[in-house]
Amino acid sequence: MKTLYLKDDEKSIATAAEILKGGGLVAIPTETVYGLAANALDGEAVKRIFEAKGRPQDNPLIVHVSCAQEIPPLVAETDERLYALAEKFWPGPLTVVMKKSALIPDEVSAGLDTVAIRMPSHPAARAVIKASGLPLAAPSANLSGRPSPTKARHVMDDLEGKIDAVIDGGPCSVGVESTVITLETEPPMLLRPGGITPEQLEEVLGKITVNHAVYEKLNENEEARSPGMKYKHYAPKAEVTLIKGGFEVYEKYLKACGGDICAVCYEGEGKNFDISFEFGKKDDYASQARGIFEALRQVDEKGCKKAFVRCPEPRGIGLAVYNRLLRSAAFRVLDLDFGIAVYGITGQTGSGKSTLCKKAEDMGIAVIYTDKLARTALESKAVQKALTGAFGGDIIENGAVNRALLAKKAFSSPGGTELLNTCTHPEIIRLTVDEIHRAQKAGAKAALIDAPVLFATPLPAVCRKVICVTAPEELRKKRIKERDGLTDEQADMRINAQQSEEDYKAKSDYIIENISLEEAENKLTEFFGKEGYYA
Ligand code: TXA
Ligand code: MG
Repeated sequence: MKTLYLKDDEKSIATAAEILKGGGLVAIPTETVYGLAANALDGEAVKRIFEAKGRPQDNPLIVHVSCAQEIPPLVAETDERLYALAEKFWPGPLTVVMKKSALIPDEVSAGLDTVAIRMPSHPAARAVIKASGLPLAAPSANLSGRPSPTKARHVMDDLEGKIDAVIDGGPCSVGVESTVITLETEPPMLLRPGGITPEQLEEVLGKITVNHAVYEKLNENEEARSPGMKYKHYAPKAEVTLIKGGFEVYEKYLKACGGDICAVCYEGEGKNFDISFEFGKKDDYASQARGIFEALRQVDEKGCKKAFVRCPEPRGIGLAVYNRLLRSAAFRVLDLDFGIAVYGITGQTGSGKSTLCKKAEDMGIAVIYTDKLARTALESKAVQKALTGAFGGDIIENGAVNRALLAKKAFSSPGGTELLNTCTHPEIIRLTVDEIHRAQKAGAKAALIDAPVLFATPLPAVCRKVICVTAPEELRKKRIKERDGLTDEQADMRINAQQSEEDYKAKSDYIIENISLEEAENKLTEFFGKEGYYA
């Protein structure tokens, strides 16, 4: 099928109206995002929307009208609250869910007994509805799961050849989808945040509630109030992570990540990174809403594997930006704003740093042992999936990772260690970050990350200073042989797999030689004393 690319003029509106009356699909600009419209009263036409988008059948569509008189036939009964909302916010970025009438086909409501109604403000959308004389069912005009389209070009990128036409009405002025509220609960419940904020809605409706799915993952087996909330959504192909905290730690962290990554950040910040996309001004939530979907699309155009996104404030329309980003990140959020000082301690195997760490604990400093967290990480289903992809299915036995086999496979092949790190480090980092927050809440004076391979992770970026513990090789060998029951050969293999002592030292801020534990402990106490912590 050839997709007509129409200008926003009278002739195009007439063409679009004819296509819609004939049961076809037209992507139309709205103030929020582009919508893929079909006749809402024609179940067959609506089915085509689901096919073109690859949309799950159980996700209902919003019906778009151009004036209030068009509403009564679509709903079971009218409601004063609907008119109060209409008076204040329509035409505009608000969708209201009510009991549906028999006119609404099951294809639109996806089997629910309710219908979502919205009156858009974009002149082209209104003109098409008027000219066709039809209520229009229209989801966002993207392939299901992808970032929503805020320009006609985005629609073409996703749907060219699959729909009859698109009208180019310029970039969308709001940039995120409408707010969805249901009047079917008491009090009314916000199902999806958007251009109209909860505060604005409360001015008209009094108390409303916010569905918890706005902020967090649905529980397993929980039925979604708004089916759209249960899918991975708004997502580029790249793996997205939201980073909370100021620009300074964000910049340091990204630089420490290296590799095939990009920054999705606020205006003026992008110049600090090799690859970056900006999505609005830091304190201007409306500008963030306008820019976010395009930035996520650009990440894919550039082919980046990982995107780190500045986490927006969930306030005003920023709540909508936050909600969309959470889904595009599959809820991966790293909060690097710790509220306590964080230090790192590292060193080669057998240097005795974990023993030394007990001294820090005595001083009220929370020690985070990443070796332990690495074991916990292996229990994560996502990590197990990555590992079997990398090293083969036989490393899982009875639902658990066979660590000995994994170590053998990883350490014996070239590049195996890096591959192992790629699979496990993201989860270990998440667990470490969680532990630091827990330590802060529990009243620790500071946190100390104990990590043998600290420098193979981006964690030094969150550390105020890094301590390196050293010991002569013979002593280290003796220690690990005794501790782990290793043969000479095994011990040598472990030692040789690590970076050189010089390398560790060069990257650290403070060096403690650990031959006598007592002397090493004194040096540690001295270090933290100088940093302002006293036992
Ligand atoms: O701004 C917008 O709302 C855009 C433009 C094109 O108008 N449309 C849009 O549609 O975002 P869509 O299909 O991408 O999202 C519709 C959302 C979904 O989360 C869906 O589950 C929810 O509205 N929804 C639709 N009908 C519903 C109903 N009867 N009950 C609960 N949620 C409903
Ligand atoms: Mg959508």
